[in-house]
Amino acid sequence: MTIALDEQRVEEFAGRVFGLYSDGMLTFMVDIGYRTGLFEAAADGSSLTSGELAARAGLSERYVREWLGALTSAGIFTYSDGTYSLPAEHAACLTGAGAENLAVLAQLTTHLGKHVHEVADAFRTGGGVPYSAFRPEFTGVMDSLSRGIYDQHLVSSYVPLVPGLRERLVAGCRLADVGCGSGHALVVLAREFPASVFVGYDISAEAIAVAREEALGLPNVRFEVCDAAALAVDTPFDLIMTFDAIHDQADPAGALRAIHSALAPDGTYLMAEPAASSNLEDNIGNPMAGFLYSVSTLHCLTVSLAEGGAGLGTAWGEQLARTMLSDAGFGQAVRHDAPGDPSNAVFVVSRESKANGG
Ligand SMILES: C[S@@+](CC[C@H](N)C(=O)[O-])C[C@H]1O[C@@H](n2cnc3c(N)ncnc32)[C@H](O)[C@@H]1O
Repeated sequence: MTIALDEQRVEEFAGRVFGLYSDGMLTFMVDIGYRTGLFEAAADGSSLTSGELAARAGLSERYVREWLGALTSAGIFTYSDGTYSLPAEHAACLTGAGAENLAVLAQLTTHLGKHVHEVADAFRTGGGVPYSAFRPEFTGVMDSLSRGIYDQHLVSSYVPLVPGLRERLVAGCRLADVGCGSGHALVVLAREFPASVFVGYDISAEAIAVAREEALGLPNVRFEVCDAAALAVDTPFDLIMTFDAIHDQADPAGALRAIHSALAPDGTYLMAEPAASSNLEDNIGNPMAGFLYSVSTLHCLTVSLAEGGAGLGTAWGEQLARTMLSDAGFGQAVRHDAPGDPSNAVFVVSRESKANGG
């Protein structure tokens, strides 16, 4: 049977496919701009020749000219009479040390792209690509993705999401970050709240070594290698937080149960996880969803499946998150948009379900 094709739709879709490939390549150009300091060198918006921009950044003019060709064709730089400039609105999205610098995120494509072959093999053979295959590079990439958010928003915007937390931190309480990675979140909090005690846990010895290095000299923070599902503490915590650290675990249900048990009776759990629905149909049209499912396939899903794990995937979504929190003994979580991070949502939930009316 021959299927009659709508030639216009074929043409439109072919255009979309070429657009994908073009944008994919341009993502590497953004990554190069971030790594080499080219965006920062152009951040003041001046009109520069390729030679002038290359000199500012201390780079080879020939490479910079080719890079400018790509970014100018794509509308990221403007071009006139042999000079290039980065509009202020574009600089606002591609420069700076804060969370608004989206150029940082391009590293993820470069990093995860290195594992396409192994992940494609796993489609055929089952299992997955273990976390160890992504390290140590993953630790640094994740650190640079989240560092700006913690510097800018953790104390000012995340802490107030938990009623009374600021006062408790000032007076002195115990807080843990599970799946802490490079540990920067706790370093920020330990500096701000010297009367409180902070403990970071991660399954990766390499990430914990990085965290310990940054925390040197801070007496109120320590880091331990620990599988979250096996977390057991002598002294319970007043607050436990996880940032993007539940959905990629081998045993996320076990981790949530262990977190519940490690909290004081009046303790609170703050869970930041990708903002998605558990139902694919709700995610269609969400501009971040294609990104989330792709990151999942290339990292979050595969690292869990590599351990024979649950394989929740990055877009496990709010409905399943609420069910799993409830199964672990928690009450009704309050959902917030994640400050400084449009791809995440924050769930705040008390250990005791009554406290939340749940
Ligand atoms: C996506 S990264 C997030 C790191 C950090 N929270 C951040 O925001 O930068 C997830 C982290 O969870 C850790 N992790 C994965 N499985 C774990 C487990 N079973 N127990 C503890 N940590 C785990 C990984 O090693 C990784 O550092």
